[in-house]
Amino acid sequence: MPVTEQALTDALKQVVDPNTGKDFVSTKVLRNLSVQGGEVAFDVELGYPAKSQIAALRSALVAAARSVPGVDNVSVNISSKITAHAVQRGVQLLPGVKNIVAVASGKGGVGKSTTSANLALALAAEGASVGLLDADIYGPSQAMMMGVNGRPESSDGKTMEPLLGHGVQVMSIGLLVDQDQAMIWRGPMATQALEQMLRQTNWQELDYLIVDLPPGTGDIQLTLSQRVPMTGAVIVTTPQDIALIDAKKAIKMFEKVGVPILGLVENMAVHVCSNCGHQEHIFGAHGGQKMAAEYKLDYLGALPLAMAIREQADSGTPTVVAEPDGELAGIYKSVARQVAVAIAQKNKDFSSKFPTIKVSKDT
Ligand SMILES: Nc1ncnc2c1ncn2[C@@H]1O[C@H](COP(=O)(O)OP(=O)(O)OP(=O)(O)O)[C@@H](O)[C@H]1O
Ligand SMILES: [Mg+2]
Ligand SMILES: [Zn+2]
Repeated sequence: MPVTEQALTDALKQVVDPNTGKDFVSTKVLRNLSVQGGEVAFDVELGYPAKSQIAALRSALVAAARSVPGVDNVSVNISSKITAHAVQRGVQLLPGVKNIVAVASGKGGVGKSTTSANLALALAAEGASVGLLDADIYGPSQAMMMGVNGRPESSDGKTMEPLLGHGVQVMSIGLLVDQDQAMIWRGPMATQALEQMLRQTNWQELDYLIVDLPPGTGDIQLTLSQRVPMTGAVIVTTPQDIALIDAKKAIKMFEKVGVPILGLVENMAVHVCSNCGHQEHIFGAHGGQKMAAEYKLDYLGALPLAMAIREQADSGTPTVVAEPDGELAGIYKSVARQVAVAIAQKNKDFSSKFPTIKVSKDT
């Protein structure tokens, strides 16, 4: 009996992508199916970076194709293509940057910078081209965490080159101005400096730019979330009530300006004793999960309060690169994958193709 395309499609439809929860056929991710006798070939183009996922996806797809009687050889070509997705209405994309993801927290000190650094590195580990912008004007820490130093170079006196840390393009306000000087900037001065830094960096073909925002929901944060073309935001919180109250303010702020929240990361969720492994919910249990449910947000994962996370970030080699195959890196990578998948499922950016027409009562 000859192998039919229909039989193959039916078999391949049974394979569900664990990252999206959908199959590859009905989402048209599987393309160019060809059947010649017992020889089968097709392409799969994922919308998110997935180096660590490809082997498993390939074997699932090959097994499904082989389950069709008469199939001898299966050749699958799996690749990732990350596209630019829609941002706030009326805001233009940045040249060379497909998707900007803001990492925010209402409260300071909850681990926003540590999460940003590991998120950036996890996306890069999955094969994406990634940048990290440290916009925390009053407490820049990404140069330290990403292990970069020195002044960014400029060949034309107008634009600057990002520094490279573990393969990620890094720019930080801390690399450009004296901390004492930046501390006295307020409101418009601070936002102007930050926007300048964002727009005058020569980002090289980024799939994702992670922006470590200053903590809080004041004027600076509000102005940036209105003006910077953001695909979405990730909220970092610790489980205690006071951090959750502030995280809610951040959620409200993004809602107001039309930036979708990609999900919530709970940091320092549980303390794991480095002596005996005993676990303790120092800041209370399930706070983040409850909040995610209350606000209908995706709960992206929980990081424990772990000595290794602090030591590795403070020494310029965050956990995702220090122990890439460890359990903690696994959590960061899972968070990163969910962020990338959430972005892939958003509308593509058509702002450059469609004119915007304003309709009012008088027209
Ligand atoms: N999961 C964790 N386990 C242990 N230590 C952590 C964890 N996450 C962050 N830290 C440590 O807690 C401190 C604060 O984290 P971080 O600087 O990332 O927070 P932040 O929200 O960016 O703070 P700020 O508001 O000052 O910018 C750092 O010393 C960091 O190494
Ligand atoms: Mg910080
Ligand atoms: Zn103990």
